[in-house]
Amino acid sequence: MTSTSDDEPANRSRHWFGETGRGGFIHRSWMRSQGFTEEVFDGRPVIGICNTFSEFTPCNAHLRHVADAVKRGVWQAGGFPVEFPVMSLGESLLRPTAMLFRNLLSMDLEESLRGNPVDGTVLLTGCDKTTPGSIMGAASVDLPTMVVTGGPMLNGKFRGCDIGSGTAVWQYTQDLNAGRMSEADYAAAEAGMSRSNGHCMTMGTASTMACLTEAMGLSLPGSAAIPAVDSRRYATAQRAGQRIVDMVGEDLRISRVVTQSALRNAVIANAAIGGSTNAVIHLLAIAGRLGLPLRLEDLDAWSREVPWLANLQPSGSYLMEDFHYAGGLPAVLAELTDLLDERATTVTGHGLLEELTTAERVPETEVIRPRGQPLGVGAGTAMLRGNLAPDGAVVKQSAVTPRLRQHRGRARVFASIEDYDVAAQDPDLDVDADTVLVLQNSGPRGYPGMPEVGNLTIPRKLAEQGVDDMVRISDARMSGTAYGTVVLHVCPESAVGGPIALVRTGDWIELDVEHRRLHLDVSEEELARRREEWEPAPQREERGWSKLYTEHVLQADQGCDLDFLVGSSGSTVARQSH
Ligand code: FES
Ligand code: MG
Repeated sequence: MTSTSDDEPANRSRHWFGETGRGGFIHRSWMRSQGFTEEVFDGRPVIGICNTFSEFTPCNAHLRHVADAVKRGVWQAGGFPVEFPVMSLGESLLRPTAMLFRNLLSMDLEESLRGNPVDGTVLLTGCDKTTPGSIMGAASVDLPTMVVTGGPMLNGKFRGCDIGSGTAVWQYTQDLNAGRMSEADYAAAEAGMSRSNGHCMTMGTASTMACLTEAMGLSLPGSAAIPAVDSRRYATAQRAGQRIVDMVGEDLRISRVVTQSALRNAVIANAAIGGSTNAVIHLLAIAGRLGLPLRLEDLDAWSREVPWLANLQPSGSYLMEDFHYAGGLPAVLAELTDLLDERATTVTGHGLLEELTTAERVPETEVIRPRGQPLGVGAGTAMLRGNLAPDGAVVKQSAVTPRLRQHRGRARVFASIEDYDVAAQDPDLDVDADTVLVLQNSGPRGYPGMPEVGNLTIPRKLAEQGVDDMVRISDARMSGTAYGTVVLHVCPESAVGGPIALVRTGDWIELDVEHRRLHLDVSEEELARRREEWEPAPQREERGWSKLYTEHVLQADQGCDLDFLVGSSGSTVARQSH
């Protein structure tokens, strides 16, 4: 209950439904148009079920059904469930990139929650940006909050083999370009990859964020990996509906769950599952909303000793369906109890470690390695620094080719992804396997929206020679389903005059993952001279969201939130206008 004095209603929804006179008449009467009996206004917790359903977001297209299961649970526990939509963001269709709109989704959700008679909320999410965007918005309101993700798709199938969302696309496109795959097979793979409801079933950004949400205590233990079409997905949703009603009674707000300890556990989980580099940006943004200090260095330090245990694509071999059968996230975290922060609590009201003592133990499999036989140690996302990235850059170590962990090569610079895509087809392109491909103008402000283009395809000429990895550096992101020696999120970005804007073709660049170093071998004097000559591109965005976004977006090392959205405005009930 949120009240502190007798004349304050117990639940904030009482400010609407508990009113007498004209205001109460209006608030209740219109709701009754939906056929509710008057008991729904008797003071029971109103649970806002915030739905990122959209048929343009195929990963979330089944969330109306998941909402029905949540509602069953809310009714069962004596609450009043009210489902409402917020902006949905689908990775596969939305242009120029879903990331441009993550903060807009968060604003939509924040204002919808605060402006309505909501006492607690269940966030229905799935596709990459819908999970962090929803959590960010809810964090800025700070009500009791539960996340229910829609679950991953079943394993993709092609010619009798399992194939992974996204990962198979990158691989098969390279094979097609190199003449190793026919057009007919390429089309067959397209038909077999996405064969059920759910989000990408590789350990891409959606699966990563689902796992990290569970690790930070915001969703029910064991829920992240349940396939979208498994009946247990709906059972867990119903359970979440029951539990959120109690959470309102306990005043278990999101800020009590997502603490520094919880973030630390999420970072550890990310390293253990070989999770997406995008998680770094999203965790920084979530921390910013909650006023928690989090720096790239913290993420790097917390990941260093963590064994990589989940053998999942893109870095490993298996897929989310296999992961679920092998015990899912609890089976991974149960191996790491000595590393996890015991102070973290979860939506169940119990500590994360306490929850893990009852985690179902599954016999050892190749999918989840035991602690003593990891796929690697400290294989998580590393934070690089150097004169090329004074404010940091990241690289996913589990995706790096060993021979390129330490590398010195000459830069070949491209000013846009479109330039690169044309050049990559050129049989005479002046590159070899040691060349460092540098992509500029693809950061949060420059693109705008920081698209997932950092994993540049290997130039055709080299692909045909069998080259399958090269050092690639950009201020962009890459899909969580992608792989390779790809340095991302270079800060500051080129559009604001970061040193990456000053790199020229022929410059020597040194990457040293071990020592976290990214160095441009050009003298200070020469860089200063180039900086004098550098001119920012004129702002192209003249109106609307893109204008607001480009004027206020923070750099990747601060989570790419808008500067004025950092922090929280709480759940204050605003004045009414009736
Ligand atoms: Fe939605 Fe991958 S496209 S999760
Ligand atoms: Mg993506």
